[in-house]
Amino acid sequence: MKIIVVAGARPNFVKVAPLIEALRATQASSPHLSFMLVHTGQHYDEQMSQAFFDDLRLPRPDVDLGVGSGSHAEQTGRVMIAFEVFLRQEEPDWVVVVGDVNSTMACTITAKKLGIKVAHVEAGLRSRDWTMPEEINRVVTDVLSDLLFTTDLIASDNLKAEGIDAGRVHFVGNVMIDTLLKHHKRALNLRQWEHFGLQTGAYGVLTLHRPSNVDQQPAFRGIVAALEVIQQHLPLIFPVHPRTRKMAEAFGLWERMAGWKHIHLLEPVGYLEMLSLTSQAALILTDSGGLQEEAVVLGVPCVTLRENTERPITVAVGANQVVGNEPEAIIEAVMTRLAYGRVPFRQPEKWDGSAARRIVDILLAMR
Ligand code: UD1
Repeated sequence: MKIIVVAGARPNFVKVAPLIEALRATQASSPHLSFMLVHTGQHYDEQMSQAFFDDLRLPRPDVDLGVGSGSHAEQTGRVMIAFEVFLRQEEPDWVVVVGDVNSTMACTITAKKLGIKVAHVEAGLRSRDWTMPEEINRVVTDVLSDLLFTTDLIASDNLKAEGIDAGRVHFVGNVMIDTLLKHHKRALNLRQWEHFGLQTGAYGVLTLHRPSNVDQQPAFRGIVAALEVIQQHLPLIFPVHPRTRKMAEAFGLWERMAGWKHIHLLEPVGYLEMLSLTSQAALILTDSGGLQEEAVVLGVPCVTLRENTERPITVAVGANQVVGNEPEAIIEAVMTRLAYGRVPFRQPEKWDGSAARRIVDILLAMR
Protein backbone atom coordinates (compact mmCIF):
# COMPACT_ATOMS: atom_id res chain seq x y z
CA MET A 1 0.00 0.00 0.00
CA LYS A 2 1.48 3.32 -1.08
CA ILE A 3 0.30 6.54 0.58
CA ILE A 4 1.14 10.13 -0.35
CA VAL A 5 0.66 12.70 2.43
CA VAL A 6 0.29 16.31 1.25
CA ALA A 7 1.11 19.54 3.09
CA GLY A 8 1.20 23.03 1.62
CA ALA A 9 0.73 25.78 4.12
CA ARG A 10 1.62 26.49 7.74
CA PRO A 11 -1.43 24.93 9.44
CA ASN A 12 -0.98 21.77 7.34
CA PHE A 13 2.47 21.03 8.76
CA VAL A 14 1.03 20.83 12.28
CA LYS A 15 -1.59 18.33 11.07
CA VAL A 16 0.63 16.03 9.00
CA ALA A 17 3.29 15.66 11.73
CA PRO A 18 1.37 13.08 13.83
CA LEU A 19 0.21 11.28 10.67
CA ILE A 20 3.80 10.83 9.49
CA GLU A 21 4.76 9.62 12.96
CA ALA A 22 1.91 7.09 13.07
CA LEU A 23 2.72 5.87 9.55
CA ARG A 24 6.36 5.47 10.51
CA ALA A 25 5.46 3.50 13.63
CA THR A 26 3.18 1.23 11.62
CA GLN A 27 5.74 0.63 8.89
CA ALA A 28 7.90 -1.45 11.22
CA SER A 29 5.19 -4.10 11.46
CA SER A 30 3.69 -3.60 7.98
CA PRO A 31 6.36 -4.11 5.34
CA HIS A 32 3.78 -3.68 2.58
CA LEU A 33 3.27 -0.02 3.61
CA SER A 34 5.20 2.84 2.02
CA PHE A 35 4.53 6.55 2.26
CA MET A 36 5.91 9.86 1.03
CA LEU A 37 5.50 13.45 2.17
CA VAL A 38 4.81 16.06 -0.51
CA HIS A 39 5.22 19.80 0.18
CA THR A 40 3.41 21.84 -2.45
CA GLY A 41 5.46 24.94 -1.59
CA GLN A 42 2.36 27.12 -1.05
CA HIS A 43 4.17 28.55 1.98
CA TYR A 44 7.89 28.93 1.44
CA ASP A 45 9.34 31.55 3.82
CA GLU A 46 11.73 30.09 6.40
CA GLN A 47 9.39 31.06 9.26
CA MET A 48 6.21 29.94 7.49
CA SER A 49 7.58 26.54 6.50
CA GLN A 50 11.05 25.24 7.48
CA ALA A 51 10.71 26.45 11.09
CA PHE A 52 7.71 24.14 11.42
CA PHE A 53 9.55 21.16 9.96
CA ASP A 54 12.32 21.76 12.50
CA ASP A 55 10.06 22.30 15.52
CA LEU A 56 7.85 19.32 14.72
CA ARG A 57 10.79 17.11 13.74
CA LEU A 58 9.14 16.44 10.42
CA PRO A 59 11.27 14.63 7.87
CA ARG A 60 12.35 16.60 4.82
CA PRO A 61 9.58 16.32 2.24
CA ASP A 62 10.28 13.70 -0.42
CA VAL A 63 9.37 16.32 -2.97
CA ASP A 64 8.71 20.07 -2.94
CA LEU A 65 6.50 21.21 -5.81
CA GLY A 66 7.63 24.81 -5.23
CA VAL A 67 4.38 26.48 -6.36
CA GLY A 68 4.66 29.62 -4.21
CA SER A 69 2.16 32.49 -4.03
CA GLY A 70 -0.24 33.86 -6.64
CA SER A 71 -3.92 34.41 -7.27
CA HIS A 72 -6.19 31.54 -6.23
CA ALA A 73 -6.43 30.24 -9.77
CA GLU A 74 -2.68 30.54 -10.35
CA GLN A 75 -1.78 28.83 -7.09
CA THR A 76 -4.39 26.07 -7.44
CA GLY A 77 -3.50 25.51 -11.09
CA ARG A 78 0.23 25.30 -10.41
CA VAL A 79 -0.32 22.74 -7.63
CA MET A 80 -2.53 20.65 -9.93
CA ILE A 81 -0.08 20.66 -12.83
CA ALA A 82 2.94 19.74 -10.68
CA PHE A 83 1.06 17.18 -8.55
CA GLU A 84 -0.31 15.41 -11.62
CA VAL A 85 3.22 14.82 -12.95
CA PHE A 86 4.26 13.50 -9.54
CA LEU A 87 1.25 11.18 -9.19
CA ARG A 88 1.78 9.73 -12.67
CA GLN A 89 5.33 8.79 -11.64
CA GLU A 90 4.48 7.41 -8.22
CA GLU A 91 1.08 5.75 -8.81
CA PRO A 92 0.03 5.67 -5.14
CA ASP A 93 -3.06 3.91 -3.75
CA TRP A 94 -4.06 6.81 -1.51
CA VAL A 95 -3.51 10.55 -1.26
CA VAL A 96 -4.04 11.99 2.23
CA VAL A 97 -4.87 15.70 2.41
CA VAL A 98 -5.41 17.81 5.53
CA GLY A 99 -7.26 21.03 6.35
CA ASP A 100 -8.72 23.50 3.88
CA VAL A 101 -6.00 25.41 2.07
CA ASN A 102 -5.71 25.76 -1.71
CA SER A 103 -3.20 22.88 -1.83
CA THR A 104 -5.74 20.59 -0.12
CA MET A 105 -8.37 21.11 -2.80
CA ALA A 106 -5.93 21.16 -5.72
CA CYS A 107 -4.36 17.81 -4.78
CA THR A 108 -7.77 16.24 -4.17
CA ILE A 109 -9.08 17.16 -7.62
CA THR A 110 -5.86 16.02 -9.29
CA ALA A 111 -5.79 12.63 -7.54
CA LYS A 112 -9.47 11.88 -8.16
CA LYS A 113 -9.15 12.64 -11.89
CA LEU A 114 -6.35 10.07 -12.04
CA GLY A 115 -8.54 7.51 -10.26
CA ILE A 116 -6.51 7.65 -7.03
CA LYS A 117 -8.36 7.45 -3.73
CA VAL A 118 -8.33 10.46 -1.39
CA ALA A 119 -8.62 10.66 2.39
CA HIS A 120 -9.45 14.06 3.90
CA VAL A 121 -8.33 14.75 7.45
CA GLU A 122 -10.41 17.47 9.18
CA ALA A 123 -13.45 16.91 6.98
CA GLY A 124 -16.94 18.32 7.47
CA LEU A 125 -16.12 21.73 8.97
CA ARG A 126 -18.51 24.35 7.60
CA SER A 127 -18.74 28.11 8.09
CA ARG A 128 -21.56 28.40 5.50
CA ASP A 129 -19.71 31.49 4.35
CA TRP A 130 -18.98 31.26 0.64
CA THR A 131 -16.87 34.43 0.67
CA MET A 132 -14.21 32.39 2.49
CA PRO A 133 -11.89 30.63 0.03
CA GLU A 134 -11.43 27.87 2.61
CA GLU A 135 -15.18 27.05 2.57
CA ILE A 136 -14.95 26.35 -1.16
CA ASN A 137 -11.85 24.23 -0.58
CA ARG A 138 -13.58 22.27 2.19
CA VAL A 139 -16.76 21.50 0.26
CA VAL A 140 -14.97 20.48 -2.95
CA THR A 141 -12.49 18.32 -1.05
CA ASP A 142 -15.21 16.59 0.98
CA VAL A 143 -17.52 15.81 -1.90
CA LEU A 144 -14.65 14.13 -3.77
CA SER A 145 -12.98 12.27 -0.89
CA ASP A 146 -13.33 8.52 -0.43
CA LEU A 147 -12.59 8.66 3.29
CA LEU A 148 -13.55 11.60 5.49
CA PHE A 149 -12.01 11.93 8.95
CA THR A 150 -13.80 14.34 11.28
CA THR A 151 -12.74 16.13 14.45
CA ASP A 152 -16.19 16.15 16.04
CA LEU A 153 -19.72 14.89 15.57
CA ILE A 154 -21.00 18.26 14.34
CA ALA A 155 -18.70 17.85 11.34
CA SER A 156 -19.87 14.25 10.81
CA ASP A 157 -23.49 15.48 10.86
CA ASN A 158 -22.68 18.22 8.31
CA LEU A 159 -21.39 15.59 5.91
CA LYS A 160 -24.40 13.34 6.36
CA ALA A 161 -26.72 16.31 5.79
CA GLU A 162 -24.92 16.94 2.50
CA GLY A 163 -25.69 13.40 1.40
CA ILE A 164 -22.22 11.95 1.88
CA ASP A 165 -22.42 8.22 2.52
CA ALA A 166 -22.02 7.63 6.28
CA GLY A 167 -19.77 4.64 5.55
CA ARG A 168 -17.09 7.02 4.27
CA VAL A 169 -17.18 9.24 7.37
CA HIS A 170 -15.09 8.41 10.47
CA PHE A 171 -15.04 10.49 13.65
CA VAL A 172 -11.44 10.16 14.82
CA GLY A 173 -10.60 13.30 16.82
CA ASN A 174 -8.19 16.13 16.10
CA VAL A 175 -4.69 15.60 14.71
CA MET A 176 -3.73 19.21 15.47
CA ILE A 177 -4.42 18.46 19.13
CA ASP A 178 -2.23 15.32 18.86
CA THR A 179 0.59 17.69 17.99
CA LEU A 180 -0.26 20.17 20.74
CA LEU A 181 -0.35 17.52 23.46
CA LYS A 182 2.90 16.02 22.27
CA HIS A 183 4.82 19.32 22.34
CA HIS A 184 3.10 21.22 25.15
CA LYS A 185 5.76 20.54 27.79
CA ARG A 186 8.64 21.46 25.49
CA ALA A 187 6.85 24.67 24.57
CA LEU A 188 6.17 25.65 28.18
CA ASN A 189 9.81 25.13 29.06
CA LEU A 190 10.74 27.78 26.49
CA ARG A 191 9.03 30.47 28.61
CA GLN A 192 8.78 32.76 25.58
CA TRP A 193 6.69 35.38 27.39
CA GLU A 194 9.75 36.28 29.48
CA HIS A 195 11.51 37.49 26.34
CA PHE A 196 9.02 40.35 26.31
CA GLY A 197 9.25 41.04 30.04
CA LEU A 198 5.73 39.64 30.58
CA GLN A 199 4.20 37.56 33.37
CA THR A 200 2.13 34.41 32.83
CA GLY A 201 -1.55 35.20 32.40
CA ALA A 202 -0.90 38.92 31.91
CA TYR A 203 -0.82 39.35 28.15
CA GLY A 204 -2.81 38.58 25.02
CA VAL A 205 -1.71 36.85 21.81
CA LEU A 206 -3.06 38.23 18.56
CA THR A 207 -3.05 36.82 15.02
CA LEU A 208 -4.70 38.24 11.93
CA HIS A 209 -4.47 37.21 8.30
CA ARG A 210 -7.92 36.63 6.78
CA PRO A 211 -8.48 38.62 3.58
CA SER A 212 -11.81 39.82 5.04
CA ASN A 213 -9.92 41.51 7.91
CA VAL A 214 -6.69 42.72 6.37
CA ASP A 215 -7.23 43.22 2.63
CA GLN A 216 -9.95 45.90 3.00
CA GLN A 217 -8.79 49.16 4.49
CA PRO A 218 -11.97 50.02 6.52
CA ALA A 219 -12.07 46.61 8.21
CA PHE A 220 -8.35 46.61 9.03
CA ARG A 221 -8.58 50.20 10.30
CA GLY A 222 -11.49 49.29 12.60
CA ILE A 223 -9.58 46.36 14.07
CA VAL A 224 -6.50 48.52 14.64
CA ALA A 225 -8.66 51.11 16.43
CA ALA A 226 -9.90 48.38 18.77
CA LEU A 227 -6.40 47.05 19.36
CA GLU A 228 -5.20 50.52 20.31
CA VAL A 229 -7.66 50.53 23.21
CA ILE A 230 -7.10 46.89 24.19
CA GLN A 231 -3.30 47.14 24.43
CA GLN A 232 -3.71 49.85 27.07
CA HIS A 233 -5.38 47.22 29.30
CA LEU A 234 -3.58 44.08 28.20
CA PRO A 235 -0.14 43.95 26.56
CA LEU A 236 -0.38 42.21 23.18
CA ILE A 237 2.05 39.92 21.37
CA PHE A 238 1.36 39.99 17.65
CA PRO A 239 3.28 37.67 15.30
CA VAL A 240 2.48 39.22 11.93
CA HIS A 241 1.65 37.10 8.87
CA PRO A 242 3.45 38.29 5.68
CA ARG A 243 0.18 39.28 3.97
CA THR A 244 -0.91 41.27 7.07
CA ARG A 245 2.38 43.13 7.23
CA LYS A 246 2.19 43.97 3.54
CA MET A 247 -1.35 45.35 3.89
CA ALA A 248 -0.59 47.20 7.17
CA GLU A 249 2.29 48.96 5.45
CA ALA A 250 0.18 49.76 2.39
CA PHE A 251 -2.60 51.28 4.57
CA GLY A 252 -0.18 53.23 6.82
CA LEU A 253 -1.23 51.13 9.82
CA TRP A 254 2.15 49.58 10.50
CA GLU A 255 3.76 52.81 11.74
CA ARG A 256 0.71 53.54 13.86
CA MET A 257 0.88 50.18 15.64
CA ALA A 258 4.67 50.34 15.97
CA GLY A 259 4.22 53.58 17.94
CA TRP A 260 2.12 51.93 20.70
CA LYS A 261 3.68 51.14 24.06
CA HIS A 262 2.13 47.76 24.81
CA ILE A 263 2.20 45.82 21.57
CA HIS A 264 5.04 43.55 20.44
CA LEU A 265 5.07 43.25 16.65
CA LEU A 266 6.97 40.11 15.65
CA GLU A 267 7.92 38.28 12.49
CA PRO A 268 5.92 35.03 12.13
CA VAL A 269 7.04 32.65 14.91
CA GLY A 270 7.67 28.90 14.85
CA TYR A 271 5.33 26.27 16.30
CA LEU A 272 6.95 25.87 19.72
CA GLU A 273 7.41 29.58 20.29
CA MET A 274 3.75 30.20 19.44
CA LEU A 275 2.54 27.38 21.67
CA SER A 276 4.69 28.69 24.48
CA LEU A 277 3.13 32.14 24.11
CA THR A 278 -0.48 30.99 23.79
CA SER A 279 -0.19 28.49 26.68
CA GLN A 280 0.23 31.23 29.25
CA ALA A 281 -1.84 33.99 27.66
CA ALA A 282 -4.81 35.61 29.37
CA LEU A 283 -6.58 35.73 26.02
CA ILE A 284 -6.21 34.83 22.36
CA LEU A 285 -7.49 37.27 19.75
CA THR A 286 -7.53 35.73 16.31
CA ASP A 287 -9.08 35.09 12.92
CA SER A 288 -7.26 31.77 12.53
CA GLY A 289 -9.12 28.46 12.55
CA GLY A 290 -6.55 26.37 14.37
CA LEU A 291 -6.01 28.78 17.26
CA GLN A 292 -9.72 28.63 18.15
CA GLU A 293 -9.29 24.89 18.75
CA GLU A 294 -5.95 25.15 20.53
CA ALA A 295 -7.52 27.66 22.92
CA VAL A 296 -10.02 25.00 24.03
CA VAL A 297 -7.28 22.59 25.08
CA LEU A 298 -5.06 25.27 26.61
CA GLY A 299 -7.94 26.65 28.67
CA VAL A 300 -7.37 30.15 27.29
CA PRO A 301 -10.43 32.21 26.29
CA CYS A 302 -10.53 33.09 22.61
CA VAL A 303 -12.14 36.06 20.87
CA THR A 304 -12.52 35.39 17.16
CA LEU A 305 -12.52 38.37 14.79
CA ARG A 306 -14.81 36.85 12.19
CA GLU A 307 -18.51 36.80 11.41
CA ASN A 308 -18.73 33.02 11.69
CA THR A 309 -16.70 29.93 12.48
CA GLU A 310 -16.43 26.53 10.85
CA ARG A 311 -15.49 25.24 14.32
CA PRO A 312 -18.69 25.73 16.37
CA ILE A 313 -17.62 23.17 18.96
CA THR A 314 -15.16 25.76 20.28
CA VAL A 315 -18.12 28.06 21.02
CA ALA A 316 -20.26 25.22 22.40
CA VAL A 317 -17.68 24.36 25.08
CA GLY A 318 -17.48 28.01 26.15
CA ALA A 319 -13.93 28.69 24.95
CA ASN A 320 -14.63 30.90 21.97
CA GLN A 321 -16.65 33.99 21.21
CA VAL A 322 -17.15 34.98 17.56
CA VAL A 323 -17.50 38.76 17.44
CA GLY A 324 -16.87 40.01 13.89
CA ASN A 325 -14.60 42.97 13.23
CA GLU A 326 -16.49 46.02 14.52
CA PRO A 327 -14.27 47.86 17.05
CA GLU A 328 -16.93 48.24 19.79
CA ALA A 329 -17.84 44.54 19.65
CA ILE A 330 -14.19 43.49 19.85
CA ILE A 331 -13.43 45.74 22.82
CA GLU A 332 -16.54 44.68 24.71
CA ALA A 333 -15.86 40.97 24.22
CA VAL A 334 -12.24 41.30 25.27
CA MET A 335 -13.08 43.22 28.43
CA THR A 336 -15.80 40.74 29.39
CA ARG A 337 -13.57 37.72 28.85
CA LEU A 338 -10.77 39.30 30.84
CA ALA A 339 -13.13 39.96 33.74
CA TYR A 340 -14.03 36.24 33.86
CA GLY A 341 -10.40 35.07 33.67
CA ARG A 342 -9.18 31.62 32.68
CA VAL A 343 -11.56 28.74 33.37
CA PRO A 344 -11.22 25.12 32.23
CA PHE A 345 -13.49 24.23 29.31
CA ARG A 346 -15.24 20.95 28.61
CA GLN A 347 -12.91 18.99 26.33
CA PRO A 348 -14.32 17.64 23.07
CA GLU A 349 -14.48 13.87 22.73
CA LYS A 350 -11.38 12.22 21.20
CA TRP A 351 -9.20 15.32 21.35
CA ASP A 352 -6.85 13.05 23.23
CA GLY A 353 -3.62 12.73 21.26
CA SER A 354 -4.57 9.55 19.38
CA ALA A 355 -6.38 10.85 16.29
CA ALA A 356 -3.53 10.07 13.87
CA ARG A 357 -3.27 6.51 15.21
CA ARG A 358 -7.00 6.00 14.53
CA ILE A 359 -6.68 7.41 11.01
CA VAL A 360 -3.76 5.16 10.08
CA ASP A 361 -5.56 2.09 11.47
CA ILE A 362 -8.63 2.85 9.33
CA LEU A 363 -6.54 3.55 6.23
CA LEU A 364 -4.61 0.30 6.56
CA ALA A 365 -7.85 -1.65 6.96
CA MET A 366 -8.92 -0.33 3.53
CA ARG A 367 -6.49 -2.46 1.56
C1 UD1 B 1 -3.22 30.32 3.64
C2 UD1 B 1 -4.57 29.58 3.61
C3 UD1 B 1 -5.33 29.87 4.90
C4 UD1 B 1 -4.47 29.59 6.12
C5 UD1 B 1 -3.18 30.36 6.01
C6 UD1 B 1 -2.24 30.12 7.18
C7 UD1 B 1 -5.62 29.35 1.38
C8 UD1 B 1 -6.71 29.84 0.52
N1 UD1 B 1 -5.41 30.05 2.51
O1 UD1 B 1 -3.53 31.71 3.63
O2 UD1 B 1 -6.48 29.06 4.93
O3 UD1 B 1 -5.18 29.99 7.28
O4 UD1 B 1 -2.52 29.95 4.80
O5 UD1 B 1 -1.15 30.96 7.10
O6 UD1 B 1 -4.99 28.36 1.06
N2 UD1 B 1 3.39 34.84 1.76
C9 UD1 B 1 4.73 35.02 2.00
N3 UD1 B 1 5.46 33.94 2.34
C10 UD1 B 1 4.94 32.69 2.44
C11 UD1 B 1 3.57 32.52 2.17
C12 UD1 B 1 2.81 33.60 1.85
O7 UD1 B 1 5.24 36.13 1.92
O8 UD1 B 1 5.69 31.73 2.78
C13 UD1 B 1 2.57 36.03 1.41
C14 UD1 B 1 2.50 36.28 -0.07
O9 UD1 B 1 2.43 37.66 -0.26
C15 UD1 B 1 1.16 35.68 -0.45
C16 UD1 B 1 0.33 35.92 0.79
O10 UD1 B 1 1.23 35.83 1.87
O11 UD1 B 1 0.62 36.21 -1.60
C17 UD1 B 1 -0.79 34.95 0.98
O12 UD1 B 1 -0.30 33.60 0.97
P1 UD1 B 1 -1.29 32.40 0.55
O13 UD1 B 1 -0.61 31.11 0.66
O14 UD1 B 1 -1.94 32.72 -0.76
O15 UD1 B 1 -2.46 32.50 1.61
P2 UD1 B 1 -2.44 32.77 3.19
O16 UD1 B 1 -3.05 34.11 3.43
O17 UD1 B 1 -1.12 32.46 3.83
